[in-house]
Amino acid sequence: MFDLPDDEILSLSKEHVFYTWSAQAKVNPIAVKRAKGVYFWDVTDRRYLDFNSMTMCVNIGHGDERVIKAMQEQAAQLPYAAPGMTTKARALASKMVAEITPGQALSKVLFTLGGADANENAIKLARGATGRHKILARYRSYHGASAGAMAATGDPRRLVWEPNLMPGVVHFLDPYRYRSTFHRTTPDISEADFAQDYLNHLEEIIRYEGPETIAAVLMESVTGTNGIIIPPEGYMQGVRALCDKYGIVMIADEVMSGFGRTGKWFAVEHWDVVPDIMTMAKGLTSAYAPLGAVAMKPEIAAAFNEHTFESGLTYTSHPVSLAAAIANIQVMREDRIVEHAAAMGPVLKRMLTDLGEAHPSVGEVRNIGLFGIIELVRDRRTKEPMAPWNGSSHEMAALKNYCLDHGLFVYTHWHTVLIIPPLIITEEQLQEGFDVLDKALDSTDNAVK
Ligand SMILES: Cc1ncc(COP(=O)(O)O)c(C=O)c1O
Repeated sequence: MFDLPDDEILSLSKEHVFYTWSAQAKVNPIAVKRAKGVYFWDVTDRRYLDFNSMTMCVNIGHGDERVIKAMQEQAAQLPYAAPGMTTKARALASKMVAEITPGQALSKVLFTLGGADANENAIKLARGATGRHKILARYRSYHGASAGAMAATGDPRRLVWEPNLMPGVVHFLDPYRYRSTFHRTTPDISEADFAQDYLNHLEEIIRYEGPETIAAVLMESVTGTNGIIIPPEGYMQGVRALCDKYGIVMIADEVMSGFGRTGKWFAVEHWDVVPDIMTMAKGLTSAYAPLGAVAMKPEIAAAFNEHTFESGLTYTSHPVSLAAAIANIQVMREDRIVEHAAAMGPVLKRMLTDLGEAHPSVGEVRNIGLFGIIELVRDRRTKEPMAPWNGSSHEMAALKNYCLDHGLFVYTHWHTVLIIPPLIITEEQLQEGFDVLDKALDSTDNAVK
């Protein structure tokens, strides 16, 4: 297609590409050539099993011809239309997204380019609809890298940019049972009491901040990179109730947890909660094209019936991305991919549990659907992590390198290993990855005290 020999891709990239999230002198990217199903290949034809769906986004797997064809046809017919116009793809994609929202209740859809600007727009909508300005978000969260989304982000990626971020965000704690601050001496507390303690914590903050100043509570329904934190039963329902009590907009960030990842279309459905606004990206097109979306209840949209929503994007509702989204949703339906992810949840749980029993460096494993994590520790009793908060360690680097050397692409984050494969993965393919992990954990087991 383009004239560049495979063996020049890496050197040319190192010369001209500026990489995100990287110290430029240290980047050493995989030069990827092709991908199919749950595998991808580099330019030397080395195969990798993709245990992270690239960036937790290729939900339907790589190289699905149905999505590629839809994009090709759309590009041939109409690659772009102005934001104030409409297209068949725009009408259809917004209807299809509205239909898969919980209870089909979020019936208006604003398309963005990705997850960060979906959250930025969700915040603007909540502020506009309530006339309030504060946003409550959690410490163990990631909401995107633009200034507003980064301000909402609780994790350390925010800290380097402060104080030049969007004002008005207040953070609170996540109901993270394995390392719960409130329950060090009462680790056996019931799930109901545990959830209530974290709801009380949130309500106390709402009161201190002044409910009349708070536009929205913004939360990942299941926390992604910061620990696959699965809310205890009653927690999401409790947050919904607090939002109702104080007139606060509930925004669920389903950028990573949506589109079948947890075994439901959206993670909030596990708790029968309907947020006022839901943001999505990644699995919306399975990353065949860039796209995000903000789905909202009609009453949020109606707040802008008579006055203008003062925001916009040149590439909103890009037809080629929308064609990818439509085809992606059709593929998920036709191939029953959400149902498959739900069925694979217990399979992944068993493999994680077996791994934990075999390796002393495994502190805890968690998963919901095909959204899993291994927490590695130096000491199960003290839970000392295998790498410090916001840091790395020799052992974690060795584990990651072992996996890559043995054809397994995984995402490690501080002391954790995330298991987020394409949702079409089979039991045999999962096992293939776990066989590599089993050997890779020798490096961390050796560090156990
Ligand atoms: C939960 C969550 N929200 C928002 C984002 C930001 O999405 P994007 O990178 O498409 O801007 C991410 C990205 O990883 C995410 O995981």
